[in-house]
Amino acid sequence: MTHRLDHRFAVAPMMDWTDRHCRFFHRLLAPKALLYTEMVTSAAVVFGDRERLLGFSPAEQPAVLQLGGSEPDEVGRAVEIADAWGYAGFNLNCGCPSSRVQKGAFGACLMAEPERVRGVLEAMRAATDREVSVKCRIAIDDQEPAPFLDRFVVACADAGVTTFIVHARTAWLKGLSPKENREVPPLRYDVVANLKAHYPELRIVLNGGLSTTAQIGEALRWADGVMIGREAYRNPGALPTLDAAARGCAAHPIDESALIATLAAYVERAQAQGVPPSAVLRHVLGLFAGRPGARLWRRCLSEHMHRTSDGAALLREAASLLLLPAAA
Ligand SMILES: Cc1cc2nc3c(=O)[nH]c(=O)nc-3n(C[C@H](O)[C@H](O)[C@H](O)COP(=O)(O)O)c2cc1C
Repeated sequence: MTHRLDHRFAVAPMMDWTDRHCRFFHRLLAPKALLYTEMVTSAAVVFGDRERLLGFSPAEQPAVLQLGGSEPDEVGRAVEIADAWGYAGFNLNCGCPSSRVQKGAFGACLMAEPERVRGVLEAMRAATDREVSVKCRIAIDDQEPAPFLDRFVVACADAGVTTFIVHARTAWLKGLSPKENREVPPLRYDVVANLKAHYPELRIVLNGGLSTTAQIGEALRWADGVMIGREAYRNPGALPTLDAAARGCAAHPIDESALIATLAAYVERAQAQGVPPSAVLRHVLGLFAGRPGARLWRRCLSEHMHRTSDGAALLREAASLLLLPAAA
């Protein structure tokens, strides 16, 4: 029996961003959020340095591993291997439009091959008792979203997958960069809402352009959850409020001194294991965005984090700048 994860509030998988250090940090801000890894290809898991690709700390849980791949045997094997690391769930990337990913014939272009995706998902489900979910777009290229998305979702559901995270944009596979593909195609929440209306038994999580409590409240009138991407790294300090909005409760105020102390201890531990301070500190640059002193905090960290031999001391120094009234 698959354990069903709580998808009400999630931080999106983001390459070069949501690594284990980022997830540790986000976990301090949103204790119950579902946190995703960056996409890891199934080939990398099967043939690469597993500890580097899969290693994470229990403090990050619940953490979902996102995989990219299109060969059922290989993706199934990757899940089997990664299952031993203790991930709370596995997600198949069917939404990434980058040309590198297209060359590997996975990501968003998989949406054109629902039968293949069904085979991949069956292999993933056979390899784990954990929840397997899919992240996709509403369509690709000039496909009409409604029938295209329906056909894709039905094929996935045939494989026993019941949770879908839908980035509410079409992916244009030719002519747009991945960054443009997150901005240019219009957001169509209505298409995702219709999907939920047609398949009420499926869990549908809305992604794309969500950054305020009002938007989250509106989405959760029909969606089963929300996934936040760029706002989580531009403005991580908003995570407690956004997470609370998704759960319909009041946000717990963050004890900032305790947060800095926990992060400092983490940087120290990471450094002792050979991790450069900047690998952790780059994730906290946006923490006080919009607050008096935020610019000093960011500048102090970004100017020194690549050279410092004591990341914890740098973090404390940056925090002390922030607390100075003159810092505003
Ligand atoms: C820097 C960056 C890297 C991303 N990497 C991934 C990825 O590895 N896998 C994936 O499914 N989506 C990836 N995405 C897309 C996000 O998960 C999300 O779908 C998208 O940013 C829309 O959500 P947002 O408007 O809240 O940012 C990435 C987005 C960004 C900005």
